[in-house]
Amino acid sequence: MKASIEVIEPRLFAGAVSDEIVASVREAIAERGRCSIVLAGGSTPGSIYRALSKPPRVEEVEWSAVTLYWGDERWVPHTDNMSNFKMTQETLLSQIPEPKPAFFPVDTSRASPADAAASYGAMIASNEKFVPGTFPTFDIVLLGIGEDGHTASLFPGSPLLEKASQSLCAAVEHPEDGKPRITLTPPALLAARRIFFIVKGEGKSDVMKRVLEGNESASVLPSRLFLEAGDRVTFFLDSGAAQHLSRPRG
Ligand code: 6PG
Repeated sequence: MKASIEVIEPRLFAGAVSDEIVASVREAIAERGRCSIVLAGGSTPGSIYRALSKPPRVEEVEWSAVTLYWGDERWVPHTDNMSNFKMTQETLLSQIPEPKPAFFPVDTSRASPADAAASYGAMIASNEKFVPGTFPTFDIVLLGIGEDGHTASLFPGSPLLEKASQSLCAAVEHPEDGKPRITLTPPALLAARRIFFIVKGEGKSDVMKRVLEGNESASVLPSRLFLEAGDRVTFFLDSGAAQHLSRPRG
């Protein structure tokens, strides 16, 4: 089964995507009593998080049964405007009424990015129940896509894309500015029950054509690695990001 692609008008995008997230969260809680969500960073998901943090959707989720993680983080303090945690704090966490979800940001106060990655992986491993030697099954992973095809902080040419690593989390460097980042690894992300890519804007239309209709390797376009997850993956695109796709979707 192939990944599904949902194309949504920009003005309806945040509502439609947040509705899908709410439905998946409710399903996970109904089936397993809890829901683990790996949050995406960057600028796109902010509107989705805001929609989730306000009525009616905020009242449709039993937030105390939700556990939040971050798919990647920049090596900056949580007070820094570049912090994915700060973005999520402002758009989601601070808005959700008590009882709030459990949330576990990457500890960027550790001695080094490598130390932060190791401690984040260990913390996830202690929170989530899974067979040693395998990977935790997050209920929902949210991901964005950069114009170079990266997702989380899995950048083109990254050795992590070989999936040889058994680590849950790794320290990497951004290929353009060399700044450190911490990212969950492909196997950790790929094990999820549901993987939602959230992509908006005409600026992503070229890369989305390449990701969804091309045949370049995952080393060149890391987001293509996730096509192997088949129908566990849904691409939510607004009409701008989808404008070069060859077949109408809906
Ligand atoms: C990050 C994200 C990154 C992001 C893409 C898209 O920390 O920046 O994890 O993978 O999702 O770069 O970013 P935009 O949503 O800002 O286009």
